[in-house]
Parts: sequence; structure tokens; C-alpha cells
Amino acid sequence: MEQKRKILFFTAELTPLLSTGGLAEVAGALPRALKAHGHDVRVIMPCYASIPAEHRGEQRNMAVADLGTHRAHGALRESRVPGTDIPLYLVEHDGYFGRPAPYGSDAYEYEDNAERFCFFGIAGLDGIKQTGWRPDVVHCHDWHSSPVPTYLRTMLGDDPFWGGMATVFTIHNLAFQGRYRAGRFASTGFPREYFSPEAFEYEGDMNLMKACIKFAHKLTTVSPRYAKEIQTLEYGEGLDGVLRTRAGDLQGILNGVDYTVWNPEIDPHIAAPYSADDLGGKARCKAALQRGFGLPESPDTPLFGIVSRLVWQKGIDLLADAMDDLAALGVQVVILGTGARDLEHRVREAARRYPEQVAVHFGYDIPRSHRVQAGSDFFLMPSRYEPCGLSQLYALRYGTVPIVRRTGGLADSVHDFNTVHRRKGTATGIVYVPNTAQSIVRAVNRAVQLYRDSEALAVIIRTGMDADFSWTRSCEAYERCYAEAIKAT
Ligand code: ADP
Ligand code: GLC
Repeated sequence: MEQKRKILFFTAELTPLLSTGGLAEVAGALPRALKAHGHDVRVIMPCYASIPAEHRGEQRNMAVADLGTHRAHGALRESRVPGTDIPLYLVEHDGYFGRPAPYGSDAYEYEDNAERFCFFGIAGLDGIKQTGWRPDVVHCHDWHSSPVPTYLRTMLGDDPFWGGMATVFTIHNLAFQGRYRAGRFASTGFPREYFSPEAFEYEGDMNLMKACIKFAHKLTTVSPRYAKEIQTLEYGEGLDGVLRTRAGDLQGILNGVDYTVWNPEIDPHIAAPYSADDLGGKARCKAALQRGFGLPESPDTPLFGIVSRLVWQKGIDLLADAMDDLAALGVQVVILGTGARDLEHRVREAARRYPEQVAVHFGYDIPRSHRVQAGSDFFLMPSRYEPCGLSQLYALRYGTVPIVRRTGGLADSVHDFNTVHRRKGTATGIVYVPNTAQSIVRAVNRAVQLYRDSEALAVIIRTGMDADFSWTRSCEAYERCYAEAIKAT
């Protein structure tokens, strides 16, 4: 039995308060899973303008950060993670977080993002200290929270309250590092001497994540395969060398699924419930999805769903390149997403060319994402890289066969229906390798063949629906990681 711990999560996103993707879901679900294991978990995030008043709780105390160029004054509010009794602390500062979006507009980040998120970390630590609750371990997520382990191990190393604090840093996406011009370093709160290759300096710029990779006691990322990939030139985003120096402290822990939310037997958003034993409702979900997206209701046409940020990482440009060939295969494709303008334009054009076959809905729409999962026959994820990926895990539970590129967490969670996996009874989807439009077309073509072989398809669907990606296993891996981080202090 693991010891009960006090764990503080620093995150920039949390479902359902602020979400741009998987980070928010993990920050919402993992604390709940840890809490169920008996730990005292608390979460801290910025108090964005978009967070509704009823979730903002009470002001607890002031929270101050010395940012070098000036002292910034904010407040710490105490609320609850919605739907739970997990304490949620919100770092309030109207100048920094009272803006329309968390990070900036589509094309432009806010130019003071380094300062904003350094304030979040430093003021957050100040506010928590004043509550008197001292965690055993501070667990930070992605670049926005990356100043925290660095600050704890440098500026607060001898602090009577924070000194000797164990730190864990989880990389959800290495592409976003908090890299800014050197001139911005002055307002981060770190003294000039830390602008060195041993800490923040990276090719003449400052890099918040790089320093954290050097200083956090333990590093994790969200799948075993991505943990290996990021130590290579191809996937390392320039930080592979630094990551290799920490290889002994870096591990991949696959994300889990919250099956109280993602379960077709009880999902309130879908047209009809269904289960592995009775798939009847899935056909109704398919018809409803076709209607909902304005496509002809055609039970025998294989339907491919996509729910994704429409960005380069997700291979949406390759999908757009493949669209004419996909249409020629006679399939239907529904896309739910938002993202880069040019990619939105390209998928909109495809829908215009093939109004009976391709349909798009732009927007971040959670109920609709459940309907795409439930109503599709196949779920497409042509990602260039994928640290974990959650949608393929949902697809498995919804009996929607995932088609994924062999990378990161996709490779760790989906087994291709090749002869080996079919013989072993472990096949759950379609996995392809080359990162090209042609390989998407080939994979979809394989899916169409599979769709016509109802016996083989039924076995694959069943195996996927029975697979267990609940948080329990990952939770135990994090517990071991926390123990190691504490030992390393
Ligand atoms: P990433 O975090 O890189 O975007 P993940 O697969 O980990 O990728 O998580 C994406 C999550 O965001 C999934 O739960 C998916 O359902 C959700 N999502 C993405 N786009 C949308 C959208 N347009 N509407 C609703 N949910 C979305
Ligand atoms: C990131 C990754 C995604 C992962 C998510 C949650 O956004 O792109 O693959 O599932 O974080 O860890």
C-alpha cells in the first residue's frame, strides 16, 4: 500500500473550466483518481476571465510575485474542482488573466506570456504558503507551469517552508516550450545569472521548459513510446540532448480514461445507449450523426469520424491532401474541430466538393464530440506525433475502430489487425507508418475491406471495447514516481 501523500497540481487548463485539449482532461481526471486512492490532492490554475463566477470560490489571501522588474500583486481564491470536493486554488490577477483567451489569439500569443505564467507559478507558491498547507510533492504540467520546479529548486531552495520540496514535471507536448527572446527574461523573476546554458538559455533565447527539465526531480511524459521518441532528433524539438541527460529520471506513463464520462452505456449526449453485448444503439447513433452533420442516412456506408485540433501536429493537412481519394472510396467523413485558418479552409472546401460524403463542424463542442465517437464506424488520427492521445482511447470504448499513425501513445494503445494480433486476439484497430496522404488512403482502404468482413470487424470491436485504459494503473505509476521524487530530495 502506497503512503498517502499531499500533492499539489499546477496546470494552465482544467476541464470543464478551461480546455483547449487533452491537458485539461488529464488535469481534471488524474487528481480525482489519486483522490480515490486516498491522497490529499489539490489543484492550482490561473483565474481566467472565462471562469464563471460560481466556480471562483472565495478569496483566501493575497499572492505576490517579485518579477525582477516589478512586484506583481494578485490574490489566491479557493474553490472546488467542479463536481468534486478537491480544493481548487485560482491565482487571480486581472491584468494577466482577465483577458479573452488563455494564451492569445489564433495566430498571436500574448507577448508577455513568459511573465504571465512566471507570475502564475511564483505568486501561486506564495499564496499556497500562506494557507499553511504544505504538499509532499508539487506536480507541474507543460511549459506554463514549468517555472515552478525551477523556482522551488533555485530561489526557494533554502526557504523554511518550501525548501526540499519534491518536484515532478510532466510533458504533455514538447512542441510548446515557453521559448522567448532573451529580452523578456528580465521580468520572469529569475536573476540574470540563471540565463545560462545550465538553466534557461537556449540558442540565445530563454526557454522555460528547458530549465525545468534540468531542475525537476522527476520527469514524465504521457506514453512510454513518446518518452523514448523525445530523446531523438526527430521528435526532440531541439531538447532531445537535454532530455537524454535526464534519461534515468524520465519515464512515460500512459494517460487514462474517465469511464464515468466516456461510456456509451450511460452517455447522456448520444442518441441511444449501447454496450459490447448489445450494439443495437450504435446504429441509431450513426443515423443521428449523419443527420446531425447533414449527410445522407446510409447505414451501409462506412463512416469515419475526426475530433481534433485542426493543426499540423494532427496531420490535418495530409488528410486534406487525401480527401479526393477518400471520397473515391465511397466513404463518409465527419470532422469536428477548430484550429489553423488555412486548414479549416481546406476541410471546408472538401465538404463543399463532396456534400454527400464530407461534413464539417467548426467549434469546440463536447456533446457533439461524444456523438462523433458514438456514431462513427472508424475514428481517424493521422498525427505526425502524439504524446498520448485520448480520442483513440475513447473510440476503443465506443466500438469505433481507431485508425492511427504508429507514433507516441497511439502506437502504445492501438494494435493493428495484422496476422499476429489477429491470431492472438489482440487486434483493436488499424496502424500505419509512413507520414503521408497516400498511407492515410491505404489505411482507409483497409478499413473499408474490414467493414465488409463483419465477423472480423465484430471481434476487433469487441476487443477494443473490452480494453481497460482506466486511470488505476497510471495512478499507481504516478504514486511510485512521487515516492522516487521524494527520495531524490
Ligand atoms: P490534444 O490534447 O493534443 O488536442 P488529445 O487526444 O489528448 O489531443 O485530446 C484532445 C481532447 O480534446 C479529446 O478529448 C477530444 O475529444 C477533445 N477535442 C478536441 N477538439 C475538440 C472539439 N472541436 N470539440 C470537442 N472536443 C474536442
Ligand atoms: C497533449 C498531447 C496529447 C495528450 C494530451 C494529454 O495535448 O498532444 O497527445 O493526450 O496532451 O496528456
